[in-house]
Amino acid sequence: MKMKWFVTLFAAIPFTVALISLQSCGGEGGPLNGGGGIPGVTQQFLDLLSADQRSASYIGSEACADCHGGRQGDGTPIYAHWKETKHSQVGVGCERCHGPGSVHQANPTAGNILHGPKSLSAIVCAQCHGPVFDQWQFSAHSKIIADPVEEAIVNPARYGKTSRCVSCHSNVFKTAGDNGVNIGELSDAEVAELAEESLAESPHTATCATCHNPHKNTEYLTDDGKQVQLRHATFSTDTTTVGPGSTPPTFTTFNHICAQCHNGRGGNPADSALSSGTARPNMHDSNQYNMLLGFGGVEGSGPVQRNTAHATAPGQCSKCHMPDARHTFTVSYDKGCAPCHTAADAAARVGVVKDEVISELFALRTKMEAYAQATFGDPDLWDYTSLITAEGKTPPDQKLVPIEVKRARHNYYFVIRSGDYGAHNAPYAKHLIEIANDNMDAVPGRAKASAGSQFLTTAQKLEILEQDRARARKADAHED
Ligand code: HEC
Ligand code: HEC
Ligand code: HEC
Ligand code: HEC
Ligand code: HEC
Ligand code: HEC
Ligand code: HEC
Ligand code: HEC
Repeated sequence: MKMKWFVTLFAAIPFTVALISLQSCGGEGGPLNGGGGIPGVTQQFLDLLSADQRSASYIGSEACADCHGGRQGDGTPIYAHWKETKHSQVGVGCERCHGPGSVHQANPTAGNILHGPKSLSAIVCAQCHGPVFDQWQFSAHSKIIADPVEEAIVNPARYGKTSRCVSCHSNVFKTAGDNGVNIGELSDAEVAELAEESLAESPHTATCATCHNPHKNTEYLTDDGKQVQLRHATFSTDTTTVGPGSTPPTFTTFNHICAQCHNGRGGNPADSALSSGTARPNMHDSNQYNMLLGFGGVEGSGPVQRNTAHATAPGQCSKCHMPDARHTFTVSYDKGCAPCHTAADAAARVGVVKDEVISELFALRTKMEAYAQATFGDPDLWDYTSLITAEGKTPPDQKLVPIEVKRARHNYYFVIRSGDYGAHNAPYAKHLIEIANDNMDAVPGRAKASAGSQFLTTAQKLEILEQDRARARKADAHED
């Protein structure tokens, strides 16, 4: 696993980043560039500064303290907060992240000190945290899914303020929210402007300052008790705040460093919701927290094993996805699964569970196809309306689709969209598929599925499931 991302990394990094890596000789493992002392200012950082600031000289953090009291919103001066951090102890002052301040001191405007979206750039931190930066650069968080942010420029009321797509898809909006800005209270013009700035100046899902408060020690420590200035908790068992029917202002401000974004957006398995929202699956591709804890699927009436030791492992997501604070966010079988499994045991278990879950999902899909073929004369018509329309076909009147089929397809997508095929929570994933099968078996006048398709390999089955997932993602890109 470890080698894998590293090899890909070298293939994928653009030239400027490669330059930084070469300058830093710290290599993998340590948080910092180089060996002796605090590294110097980089050209990439200087390139972020406005023309007005380039002529400025350094005045020292104490000089900033003269004016910056109470601007964090909780009455405490930024300076006093910074004073308590590791950065202060090791001599990383205000100007290492904001650039030199003499011009700003003489004539304080936002235009002559690094601020706003540009200050959120990971380049600021990369001056010293080169190895972490390289890992982050490899991760999906350094990219952006532009669609939701572009939509918020065109239609800020809907994609910005109502659906809050931007809160999970743009670091600029996420950080604004964490600094106390209520996106719902901004004007449409302000939302559109921020969305434009986000794409132009900080086109990333999550930068360093999205997860880390740059100024402040916080109450949220790592699983081994370390202060790393996290803005949110790494652990939660709260299933209400992001539960069925929760609203965008609630689920986008969830207090969890990963599940503030990786939650199912209030997706609702109630029969009433399944009957009204028939255009597309009502969870999002982001339902990993729901899957880990085991809530949000159609569960039937019997007993449910909601989760395993995975849900309560200290650090939760970061336990498996960030051992040794590795910022690729990819799973590590060696460090991430200890002490509960050996690397070999963990890998083997994932292999077996994925194989089972993929085959079970495929068999369920075959059943849904058989029902659609028998009822409507077309195997595709079990699916959601927008997904059928995307295939150029006319969806049946959804009133003709029995609730049993609606429950089954909810569970089908719930498992697929989490993307881990049982690795997060095998008992819950399997339970949902079982309940879906029970429902399909109860469909009035159902037809038996043909056995032929069962002879496909797991890889071939997965490809078909991933095609459904991709269509659902596409439908999400332009949703109401
Ligand atoms: C003489 C008072 C004064 C001093 C000294 C001063 N600032 Fe400021 N600073 C201000 C004022 C006033 C603003 C708001 C300007 C505006 O919005 O037009 C500001 C704005 C800022 C902003 C932008 C805030 C935003 O809303 O985005 C940053 C960042 C900042 N200062 C950092 C610093 C740093 C770092 C230092 C020390 C190098 C410093 N300031 C020293 C008065 C000062
Ligand atoms: C480790 C880098 C880092 C250090 C050190 C740092 N800042 Fe910041 N600062 C940032 C980043 C990143 C942002 C934007 C994110 C945010 O607002 O939370 C920011 C935002 C700000 C803002 C505007 C947002 C607000 O809360 O009003 C001000 C003002 C500011 N910093 C002043 C200072 C002062 C004064 C110091 C020193 C006492 C300082 N900063 C030290 C990185 C840093
Ligand atoms: C000028 C160099 C420099 C810059 C710029 C810088 N850091 Fe640091 N950072 C350090 C040093 C040095 C340490 C202490 C490392 C140690 O003791 O192992 C540190 C420690 C940390 C820690 C661990 C905190 C702790 O209490 O142990 C975090 C988290 C961190 N930095 C995040 C950031 C983020 C986020 C940014 C950008 C907003 C940033 N740093 C910018 C040099 C820097
Ligand atoms: C609660 C946070 C959250 C909200 C709100 C949110 N998303 Fe997402 N979205 C995510 C996450 C996390 C992923 C990535 C999931 C993964 O890769 O497993 C994602 C993935 C996507 C994708 C798939 C991209 C691809 O790879 O093809 C699209 C498209 C998308 N979102 C659009 C939207 C739109 C449009 C909205 C608003 C209507 C929205 N999202 C609201 C968290 C969110
Ligand atoms: C998606 C959230 C997220 C993003 C983005 C992120 N971090 Fe972190 N970071 C974390 C978490 C969570 C931890 C604690 C991991 C653990 O449990 O050990 C951490 C730990 C750290 C540490 C402490 C390392 C140590 O050895 O203990 C440093 C330094 C750090 N991050 C710097 C950065 C920098 C620099 C960036 C940007 C290049 C960044 N982080 C981006 C979530 C994030
Ligand atoms: C600001 C919202 C946000 C936060 C916070 C966040 N993520 Fe993500 N994450 C996303 C989005 C959006 C994507 C998809 C981005 C893309 O494809 O460009 C993603 C992608 C991922 C991926 C890759 C998924 C794939 O399809 O390959 C993993 C793994 C991941 N995140 C894990 C985490 C973990 C672990 C944390 C907490 C330490 C975390 N994320 C915090 C929004 C977020
Ligand atoms: C017990 C370990 C473990 C925990 C805890 C865990 N994950 Fe995972 N995660 C995995 C494994 C294993 C995979 C599958 C990796 C693969 O396919 O090779 C995975 C896959 C993913 C993916 C990728 C899905 C895709 O589309 O490819 C995302 C995103 C993700 N996890 C996010 C999270 C988030 C967010 C949390 C916390 C709510 C979390 N994970 C908790 C082990 C874990
Ligand atoms: C805190 C301890 C803990 C950690 C950490 C942990 N697991 Fe598990 N895992 C368990 C327990 C306990 C079970 C349930 C075992 C059982 O039912 O026999 C389990 C079950 C599983 C299953 C389902 C297997 C089955 O046979 O049903 C898979 C797959 C799995 N783990 C993979 C992983 C991977 C991959 C990691 C690391 C990325 C990981 N686990 C980390 C404790 C853990």
